[in-house]
Amino acid sequence: MVWNEITQKWKQLQEALMIDEIHFVFEIRDNSCYTQSTNYSSLNYNQKNMSVSIVVGAQWGDEGKGKIVDMLSEKIDIVARYQGGANAGHTVVIGDKTYVLHLVPSGIFQKNVKCVIGNGVVIDPVALMEEINMIKSFGIKIDGRLFISHNAHLIMPYHKLLDTIREQGAQKIGTTGRGIGPAYIDKYMRTGIRVVDLLDRKVLREKLTRNIEEKNQILSKVYGKTEIDIDKIVNEYQEFDNKIDPYITDTASYLNDALRKKKRILAEGAQGALLDVDHGTYPYVTSSNPTSGGACTGLGIPPTSVKSIIGIVKAYSTRVGNGPFPTELSENTGETLRSIGHEFGATTGRPRRCGWLDMVSLKYSLMVNGISEIALTKLDVLDSFDEIKICVAYKKDGKVLKSFPTDVHTLDTVEPVFQTYKGWNENISTAKKWKLLPPRTKKYIETIEKLSGVKVSLVSVGARRDQTIKR
Ligand code: GDP
Ligand code: IMO
Ligand code: MG
Repeated sequence: MVWNEITQKWKQLQEALMIDEIHFVFEIRDNSCYTQSTNYSSLNYNQKNMSVSIVVGAQWGDEGKGKIVDMLSEKIDIVARYQGGANAGHTVVIGDKTYVLHLVPSGIFQKNVKCVIGNGVVIDPVALMEEINMIKSFGIKIDGRLFISHNAHLIMPYHKLLDTIREQGAQKIGTTGRGIGPAYIDKYMRTGIRVVDLLDRKVLREKLTRNIEEKNQILSKVYGKTEIDIDKIVNEYQEFDNKIDPYITDTASYLNDALRKKKRILAEGAQGALLDVDHGTYPYVTSSNPTSGGACTGLGIPPTSVKSIIGIVKAYSTRVGNGPFPTELSENTGETLRSIGHEFGATTGRPRRCGWLDMVSLKYSLMVNGISEIALTKLDVLDSFDEIKICVAYKKDGKVLKSFPTDVHTLDTVEPVFQTYKGWNENISTAKKWKLLPPRTKKYIETIEKLSGVKVSLVSVGARRDQTIKR
């Protein structure tokens, strides 16, 4: 009886403390029994707190991550951005309004969702404040809903300047000019300025002065440019402390606490796997890790908390900026895809290069991300094509390659092998259910599933939330 009570009380205590296991040490000393408990909270080491889903771009970015994250956020407690910066442009269409987000997670339009900008993101305070004001101007509450990591690094004006100047050199990446590369360089050089530094004016002044002195040497001696005025920048950036202070949080603790409370977290990636600095088409990549692994380091959450990895796949391919693109269509078909799909950058307005779906790079992306399900987007863009192609292999010197080469010289010279499918020539943008899709559309989707070995769990047939078919 007593034992039952103890067990029951113990269970209650365990639940209250969210502890999975506790060990007692009994020690007899001076004729007394001392107990000491060692809490083996297995939060980080078991599968009980798997409540994180990661949304990753599976191609070269702009797959429609913003739309899918907004839609999925309906059943999510926290949406957290884990890498990149204001190079991202995530579009969310609600009714007749279109919003483009660069730093704030795409869950912000679901009023019960909290949003986190994680430590892995590089934040341009100017861009962030503009975005916060834009969101507020639409009557959307953001205070108390947005949490910014104190450990995230800041993008400074000299980062943007260096990004633009470097792009005038011989090897142009075709960056967004948002200062992303130079800011990550400082982060890894261990000279970067972090969000927390904004809170201490003395520290900020010291760090900024040291950084600008060094950048001025590079600007004047390497590039022959005018030096930056230290005082001007120090004064301007000191002003951000009051503005950003209300949002600054230890977001890793916040998220881990939420995991303990079994909150549902969605990690929102920016860019795409083929732009990943480690796994992408280097050097034509961004400077962070958009692949799923980046979510854990970029948020401070354990890999064991990840339940699913949703790959956002556009029904064809696009790429902005330079770099190899084996299935690129440089003639009429490419133009048609661009104009029907409105393929112009959400951040820079640049025309996106367009091509057919590339299963070779996609299978590689599925592998490095561990994608467990696919959300297939922009399928409606293919409505009017008589023929649709999928690249199923690459050939080089007449031989089929066994794997996706990330070496750009090889990738530049591969020959895509296409399979051709008859188009459905029907408007699918009003279809709300799988059974309402034309047989040829279903065949296209099932072919992608067969070739990839991954289920297509969501099909997007338009930019709006309601233009999504769940399977
Ligand atoms: P992200 O960077 O991955 O969030 O994608 P972007 O917002 O840069 O680009 C995707 C574009 O396609 C946006 O203009 C979206 O509104 C739009 N979009 C998303 N899904 C669909 C879809 O299924 N059909 C069509 N026609 N447009 C879509
Ligand atoms: P979202 O999140 C598409 C590309 C740039 C360039 C390369 C490096 O909207 O999908 P950077 O400014 O990051 O140093 O540029 O990466 N790029 C993107 N392409 N979508 C994006 O983000 C991108 N962010 C960067 O065009 O080729
Ligand atoms: Mg985009």
